[in-house]
Amino acid sequence: MNGNGNNNNNGNNNNNNWSWWQYGAAAAGLTAAVGGLYLATRNTNSLMNDSNDSSSEESHQENSSQSREQADRGKSVFSIIGDLMQPLVESTTIKEDTVSRSSVPSSPCITNLNSLLADIYVRYIALKREDFKLHYRVFNEVFSTIHSNMKEVDKYYQRYSSNVQFAGSHYDRLRIKKPDEFDVDIVIGLPVNFCVDPFNPKESDIVIEQSSPGFVQLRAGVQYQKILVRDGVDSVINKTAYEWLDDRKYILRSKFTRWFKSVGYRALNRLPKKGVLPVCYVDGVPYTIRTSESGPAWTLLIEAPGFKLDVDLVPAFRFPEDRWLDGRSYRSIPPECRRGYWMVVPKPNKGGNTVHDEERSWRVALQDQEKQFLNNTYQLRQTIRLMKKFRDAQKMDKIASYYIKTLFFWEYVELQASNRNDMWEKSDIATLFKYMLRKFYSALDKKEIPYFWNRRHNLIENVNNALINEYKYKVARLLSILDDSWKYKEVAKYLLTNNEYEEYKIFLI
Ligand SMILES: *[C@@H]1O[C@H](CO)[C@@H](O)[C@H](O)[C@H]1NC(C)=O
Ligand SMILES: *[C@@H]1O[C@H](CO)[C@@H](O)[C@H](O)[C@H]1NC(C)=O
Ligand SMILES: *[C@@H]1O[C@H](CO)[C@@H](O)[C@H](O)[C@H]1NC(C)=O
Ligand SMILES: *[C@@H]1O[C@H](CO)[C@@H](O)[C@H](O)[C@H]1NC(C)=O
Ligand SMILES: *[C@@H]1O[C@H](CO)[C@@H](O)[C@H](O)[C@H]1NC(C)=O
Repeated sequence: MNGNGNNNNNGNNNNNNWSWWQYGAAAAGLTAAVGGLYLATRNTNSLMNDSNDSSSEESHQENSSQSREQADRGKSVFSIIGDLMQPLVESTTIKEDTVSRSSVPSSPCITNLNSLLADIYVRYIALKREDFKLHYRVFNEVFSTIHSNMKEVDKYYQRYSSNVQFAGSHYDRLRIKKPDEFDVDIVIGLPVNFCVDPFNPKESDIVIEQSSPGFVQLRAGVQYQKILVRDGVDSVINKTAYEWLDDRKYILRSKFTRWFKSVGYRALNRLPKKGVLPVCYVDGVPYTIRTSESGPAWTLLIEAPGFKLDVDLVPAFRFPEDRWLDGRSYRSIPPECRRGYWMVVPKPNKGGNTVHDEERSWRVALQDQEKQFLNNTYQLRQTIRLMKKFRDAQKMDKIASYYIKTLFFWEYVELQASNRNDMWEKSDIATLFKYMLRKFYSALDKKEIPYFWNRRHNLIENVNNALINEYKYKVARLLSILDDSWKYKEVAKYLLTNNEYEEYKIFLI
């Protein structure tokens, strides 16, 4: 699979393994140096075989310090972004998760539930390599342009936005159908120490206080409070971090988010305009950029005729793993999932007790750890994709992809505890799909999907009861069909949208 239609990558002798999607960035002339970069990557060896993933992943991780050094030596932004994208494009999605249009059979052979699910997968779920290339190319160009503008317009961002990291379903390799949504976490540094002060933990530079399950508040310790004294009031850069504090010295999620978005808007202002909207040109095509805000994310809506791509940018802080939360129902991080750090993102705590809770609360985020659970289990990922397709086709909009994944995390640890983890390899996809749908049903029935890292936080707590019941009914109907092996063809109706089904039913006669 090393070819993957990429003729440019012929025996490079420099450090940059340039490929087709990087040339455009170079042409755009982005030359600002970036502060540093952390990469979490996977390196899949072949289309279906995952088993060799993690070893290569480890070596990438270990060498992050190396890439950081290279970055510090002033590599240009396009090669940095190139490094960032390369693993994603070359090994991750293309190799395992995409199919080319020509590989979709014109007359499928559907004889049972397994062959039906496989065909639906290839036709309606798997990313098509052809779409994927354009989306990644546009993402790469637009994101690198905006990211470098953000560094130009804000000195704090320039100095402290040292880590860019993919999150969400691309990163987990779970995106289905179209690569038109990207999540990017941008780790923001602080001019103080993220570690605990071993002599005086209560006065660490940042004190982490637990609030509602799944959320924390961050209180500035003495060093942080003294930033202005330490660095002088003219220290324009470090002052930014001081300005996020409230009068009781908590780092306000709300102010931090506002700062981040303002950097983004100022960066957009530097782009040329088409009408009222900023545009970014990729291969001569103007892509307009609108924005929206939801939760912690600042979203870029990138559009051209027949093209749509959403990019969620989420700023985050990163703490060392030895500061992971203890007690109060927090799960300790399983040794095989350790990553060295965990993150917090500025997501408001809607269920907080006081007004302060909402302003001050940060949501814990362990997606790098979670990713380890999805490691090595191709069939598990396929099952998640089928569930997501079902969710989409049935318009269960309140069930976030993360909730579906959470069901799998729980199942993963439960199977592991009883030594049955080989189920993911040993069972066929139809069996796994039914198995996990039953879990989904019982979660809806209890109206509870506990957050994996703290079971006291119920992810679907705020979803309205009538809606939960409606979803439950939809799952129950599909389950009853799945239980009758004669009716397997009807499953298509549940997994496909009406239009898709209209088109598909000729194959089912
Ligand atoms: C997966 O690995 C096995 C054994 O290494 C090999 O026989 C098979 O062809 C591989 N499958 C793909 C799709 O590369
Ligand atoms: C994993 O890598 C080893 C050594 O490179 C190779 O011998 C083995 O066949 C690979 N396994 C799979 C399943 O690809
Ligand atoms: C990381 O990079 C350094 C320098 O290139 C190399 O010596 C080292 O072996 C690498 N480490 C791993 C784990 O690959
Ligand atoms: C800002 O903080 C960093 C980290 O503590 C420090 O090294 C730097 O000197 C500070 N900058 C100024 C202008 O004081
Ligand atoms: C991921 O795969 C590697 C290699 O098989 C394994 O050592 C590691 O424990 C796995 N992670 C989890 C969470 O199972």
